[in-house]
Amino acid sequence: MKNTKIIAVANQKGGVGKTTTTINVGAALALTGKKVLLIDLDTQESLSNFLGIYNTENNIGKALYKTVNRETIDLADYIVTNEVNRVDIIPAELNTMQRIAIDLVSVRSKETVFRRLINQNSELLDRYDYILLDCPPSLNVILDNALTASRYVLIPCQAHPLSYPPLPNLLLQIDEIQAELNESIEVIGIVPTMVDRSTNSRQTVDMLRENYADVVFETEVERMAVAANSALTEKAVVLSNAKDNRVSREYKELANELVNRIEGV
Ligand SMILES: Nc1ncnc2c1ncn2[C@@H]1O[C@H](COP(=O)(O)OP(=O)(O)OP(=O)(O)O)[C@@H](O)[C@H]1O
Ligand SMILES: [Mg+2]
Repeated sequence: MKNTKIIAVANQKGGVGKTTTTINVGAALALTGKKVLLIDLDTQESLSNFLGIYNTENNIGKALYKTVNRETIDLADYIVTNEVNRVDIIPAELNTMQRIAIDLVSVRSKETVFRRLINQNSELLDRYDYILLDCPPSLNVILDNALTASRYVLIPCQAHPLSYPPLPNLLLQIDEIQAELNESIEVIGIVPTMVDRSTNSRQTVDMLRENYADVVFETEVERMAVAANSALTEKAVVLSNAKDNRVSREYKELANELVNRIEGV
């Protein structure tokens, strides 16, 4: 796939804003005319649920099982179009995802199954400008699969002191994948999320900017109830143009920064 950019939205720490970032950056890219596919790689199926999808038969876990069994599948049968957010999604299903996360550990070339699936469907996936992978909160074999298939990693980091210490481990995992499986992977940026006015929050962002100056995005995403409430309406925050909706503006700015870094415009 020459022009399709695959981005893993990853952080092994739970609840830092991976799913919120995936949906909002995805929808913001779509608003600028990009064709976007989201893939839910998390057992919790939060991204799928956000888009109103539950218990899908054709889910990413099933596609991975078929790839392990050397069946060639047509991913078109797994893609669901979400008109409201203007994105396509391949959903996850809790039970299948839970099983595959365990079963993958004991198959040959366990980290490359997802990449094989992507490569087998390159003609179909070529039509997307961006593919965003919502990763699980774990340094597990599913994350390895996502990193092995991705050109870029986008790391949401909650502006909270406990979110800072896990970062080196994630970066180490990315380095290892780069050395062993995917030379071209690159951290495209770290985005501070749920930033508020507390000293704790400010100090964490300052530490991020000091120690990861090259990669931290200028954009910071604030903590606002609209972000949490958006799950109830199944609409990305970026679809709102309300003046006081700063998170909407911020995610659009983040998507712009991301495109600038990747496409250099
Ligand atoms: N900017 C924000 N302001 C307020 N709440 C937010 C913001 N971003 C995310 N949240 C809320 O914080 C919680 C965690 O966010 P999210 O689900 O995106 O994190 P995650 O990293 O995907 O979590 P997990 O590791 O469980 O997959 C959710 O309830 C979400 O609605
Ligand atoms: Mg999530």
